[in-house]
Amino acid sequence: MDFKRVISSRRSIRKYLDKEVPWELISEILDAGIKAPSAGNIQSYKFIVVTDKKKKDEIAVASLKQSWMKGAHAHIVICSDKEDIKKFYGERGSLYSTQNCALAAENMLLKATSLSLGACFVGAFDDKAIKRILKVPNGFKPEITITLGYPDERPSLRKRMALENLVFFDEYGNKKRDISLFPLEKQVKKVKKLIKKIKKKKS
Ligand SMILES: Cc1cc2nc3c(=O)[nH]c(=O)nc-3n(C[C@H](O)[C@H](O)[C@H](O)COP(=O)(O)O)c2cc1C
Repeated sequence: MDFKRVISSRRSIRKYLDKEVPWELISEILDAGIKAPSAGNIQSYKFIVVTDKKKKDEIAVASLKQSWMKGAHAHIVICSDKEDIKKFYGERGSLYSTQNCALAAENMLLKATSLSLGACFVGAFDDKAIKRILKVPNGFKPEITITLGYPDERPSLRKRMALENLVFFDEYGNKKRDISLFPLEKQVKKVKKLIKKIKKKKS
């Protein structure tokens, strides 16, 4: 799958087929995770791959009872090493270790998409409960769970905010620019206006 297609077709998948994902594919996804950038290349994370049914059920309960998670073939729980990285970066290391996990997670989501697998980033859970279920030692923090499996749904793209509402130039709040960077947005607006006009004429 080419890169553009991977980016545009990725969705959060929450419904899965009852089908095992081969270990080779899971390991490709994990490998994509460690290819992500990390502060100082310190890779302050551990990945716990969970396929045990009982444990997955417990993780779903600990994730604010998101019972759809039970249907995923695997959960990849990404834990950050909060202590080790502080030796290099002091208090800022805590932020870096979370950011490292998020980047690894995004690489995994994209790799899963490229392999026609479904995945979802889960951030809502009770840290203590996840630590207990997976015997995560002190100093490590569960940051993200990636659910993984063969998709049994094809959600459409969730609406995104318009780029022009999110981008400033040279300083915060400055939206002005001589040459518009958002021709596509403009085209979409033009087409919408045109459709409205046609509809008005017809009625
Ligand atoms: C930090 C973060 C936390 C998230 N937590 C959850 C979660 O707990 N449960 C869930 O179903 N989806 C969760 N998501 C997925 C988002 O809901 C999803 O990415 C968003 O609605 C956009 O949909 P899309 O991924 O299909 O483009 C989370 C995503 C992020 C980035």
